Amino acid sequence: MLSEKVRNSLKSSSWIRAMFEEGEKLRRIYGPDKVFDFSLGNPDPEPPRCVKEALKKYALSDMPKLHAYMPNAGYPEVRERVAAHLSRETGVRLSQNHIIMTCGAGGALNVVLKAILNPGDEVIVFAPYFVEYLSYIDNHLGKPVVVSTHRETFEPNIAALEESITPRTKAVIINTPNNPTGVVYGRKTLEDMARAIESKEKEYGTRILLISDEPYRKLVYDNIDVPSVLSIFKNSVLVDSFSKSLSLPGERIGYIAASPAIEDVDTLMAGMITCNRILGFVNAPSLFQRIVAENLDATVDIEIYRERRDLLYNNLIKMGYSCVKPQGAFYLFPKCFIEDDIEFKNRALKYNLLIVPGSGFGMPGYFRLSYCVSLETIENSLPAFEALAKEFLF
Ligand SMILES: Cc1ncc(COP(=O)(O)O)c(C=O)c1O
Repeated sequence: MLSEKVRNSLKSSSWIRAMFEEGEKLRRIYGPDKVFDFSLGNPDPEPPRCVKEALKKYALSDMPKLHAYMPNAGYPEVRERVAAHLSRETGVRLSQNHIIMTCGAGGALNVVLKAILNPGDEVIVFAPYFVEYLSYIDNHLGKPVVVSTHRETFEPNIAALEESITPRTKAVIINTPNNPTGVVYGRKTLEDMARAIESKEKEYGTRILLISDEPYRKLVYDNIDVPSVLSIFKNSVLVDSFSKSLSLPGERIGYIAASPAIEDVDTLMAGMITCNRILGFVNAPSLFQRIVAENLDATVDIEIYRERRDLLYNNLIKMGYSCVKPQGAFYLFPKCFIEDDIEFKNRALKYNLLIVPGSGFGMPGYFRLSYCVSLETIENSLPAFEALAKEFLF
């Protein structure tokens, strides 16, 4: 019954299922508190109180048409609030006509890609990448082109990017703050990237859309600045989500903001709004459009994640692991002590440590830790990380 494509993706994602099953097995044998599961990026802090209050208010509200269909782009007044918020934050003047409310960042990325790709068009992604990008690009018959990042910083390699742009390049996807590295791309990197893309556009007489996937843009530490792509790239769309910033991943709510500088931005918007409809999303969830619009300045308690980052990062470095210090999101991406990251993941399992091999992000030789776990779990896991390191260091 299954299509070949889906059968293949079942095969290639079987290791994720295998890991999950392995975790379940270990929990049954040793008890949940003896298993250290750093594999899942499922935010565990509660949504902020103000979000729950708004939910309570709307759940009991008799507001007419609260649960009805609305324009496919979302409620105009919600989009106006998002536009005003973003204009203040980025210095770029946006109106509701530049905003589409979406079913999370995942929904948004599919809308953008469907709107712009012809079969065989190339989309550049940087390794390590969020693995779903490959499926999203394939959904719309595009071809992913993987470009390297600098090993010391995990920032995009601009020379490699330039070499990879061809007349078929339709889009470049960036993700900052990054999953899996936690790195925030600096302003200079983004400006160099914009220059490289614009010069290739001129050379080939093409247009390339910069898609900035930023579901972690509010989860940053040490007051680091997340530069606004809308002010740096002329042809750009920002994809944002409330899955992480408000701990609402199950509610499927996010948005697309298109740069007003795009020459035919109205046509692009019309295309993306149609795609939101014909992909079957129809519109973003109505209740949560209302709720997020009232809580655009709110975030979960970021200190929770910062404390975890510091505890895990500082201890791993002391033990001899090497890792770029994350500036945002809730992941660490250390180097394995051996080339074979699958073997490393298996060695970690001996200590009840569940980690994700870098190969899953297009970057073998590394592993991802998600610190969506309590401080206590991190504390308790430290002897296991130490024992694992000692296997290789002594
Ligand atoms: C980099 C990145 N992009 C997009 C998504 C999808 O997020 P959403 O829940 O908003 O669809 C995730 C989720 O983990 C992510 O890590």
